[in-house]
Amino acid sequence: MWIIQSQYGSENFYQSLEQELNSLILGEPNLTANLANISSWLFHAIPRLNWSGFYLWSESDQELILGPFQGLPACIRIKPERGVCGKAYTTGKTQCVDDVHAFPGHIACDSASRSELVVPLIKNGQVIGVLDLDSPGPGRFSPKDAEELERIMAKIVDKIF
Ligand code: SME
Repeated sequence: MWIIQSQYGSENFYQSLEQELNSLILGEPNLTANLANISSWLFHAIPRLNWSGFYLWSESDQELILGPFQGLPACIRIKPERGVCGKAYTTGKTQCVDDVHAFPGHIACDSASRSELVVPLIKNGQVIGVLDLDSPGPGRFSPKDAEELERIMAKIVDKIF
């Protein structure tokens, strides 16, 4: 049984979260299983999310394709020039959007979403997918959230892909 110990808002939240995620993936080589568990862990460890999951880049389709997630069913394919995920993919930069309604081209999968954080997954200098977090609260994600998740995902990507 897995118990989330990290407490969002505490000084060492992201340090604890990183340790928990590392334990979660330890010894498991299956990518789908690891991404599924990571999306679930983030969904439950980070308060006020309505969606947490992955889009993975498909070389053959030249699109981001929906991967493991928690939340309502979402759009399956995202072209690189579309939405917040597409912007994170094409720029290779984390996108922290305080108000999704003000983001040109935002793709609304869950109408409850008001703010969004998308972190590119980078392996050997190539963006191979994105982590997408949605919140029903406007301005939900702080620069610290963005910075820490970017740091943690960089390390996790090295381990699971
Ligand atoms: N809002 C995203 C699409 C994915 S859903 O939020 C799960 C976007 O604009 O790329």
